[in-house]
Amino acid sequence: MGRIAYVNGRFVRHAEAAVHIEDRGYQFSDGVYEVWAVLDGKLADSAGHFARLKRSLGELRIPAPMSDAALKIVLAETVRKNRIREGLVYLQVTRGVAPRDHPFPDPPPVPAIVITAKAVDPAIAKQRAQKGAAVVTTPENRWGRCDIKTVSLLPNVLAKQKAKEAGAVEAWFVDDLGLVTEGASSNAWIVDAAGVLRTRDIQANILRGVTRASLLALIDGLGVTFEERPFTPAEAKSAKEAFITGAGTLVLPIVRIDGANVGNGAPGPVAKRLRHLYIEHARRGAD
Ligand code: PDD
Repeated sequence: MGRIAYVNGRFVRHAEAAVHIEDRGYQFSDGVYEVWAVLDGKLADSAGHFARLKRSLGELRIPAPMSDAALKIVLAETVRKNRIREGLVYLQVTRGVAPRDHPFPDPPPVPAIVITAKAVDPAIAKQRAQKGAAVVTTPENRWGRCDIKTVSLLPNVLAKQKAKEAGAVEAWFVDDLGLVTEGASSNAWIVDAAGVLRTRDIQANILRGVTRASLLALIDGLGVTFEERPFTPAEAKSAKEAFITGAGTLVLPIVRIDGANVGNGAPGPVAKRLRHLYIEHARRGAD
């Protein structure tokens, strides 16, 4: 059976799934999205992603396309129809379809919704985590509301391409103060030279990562020294460890930054432990 997508109320064959040419997501990036990791066929950290979706929609004044209860059923059905055990579910909601004009259409159109799911090979993901991955740094050039998970991702796309061409999995944005904000699709962490686990504090210039928030709750009580404090690329390069978090990568050790080894160039004990802890937590809590 081929892939199935959910588009505006209907399950359709992925190859034939389409949206209207005057969808405001297509024309203006006027929409938001969410990505859930799927573990054992269930959505990981479901509540956190639902809460952030609600917030993103609210910030753009786009009405929810359906109740949370209905959305849960549609998401689960998309996972089931695509027979996903380990993978990702992608949800996009845009303001809807209207003749092209910049202000919000009045009366508001019906929001457009698309859901897709794809499988991830757990063996490949595991192998990558065991080896560790590389990141490159790049100047921050995104807008000031990166806390809203909008589909407006062109700077992220360009940064990821730069990373790919350098043999890296992620690009870390560096702001005007010379501090790492976050990755193009993940949050950034280090265990600094003094052994302090650090990730930057939550402001409008980064996404409030659901994986980040769950990990913060998990490390509470582990006895790990932790600070919500930004770091420079130089601090990251001389750190003991580095890693990224996100629904796409869960917790992924970073072993090279701009071509320089982090620590001894192999995943460190904190990153490995936190990956294990997070996956256990996500499997336990998945629904
Ligand atoms: N990205 N920062 C950015 C810019 C992101 O796009 C993401 C997620 C994160 C991590 O958030 P979370 O832990 O809630 O997944 C941080 C998704 C996976 C994506 O764009 O595919």
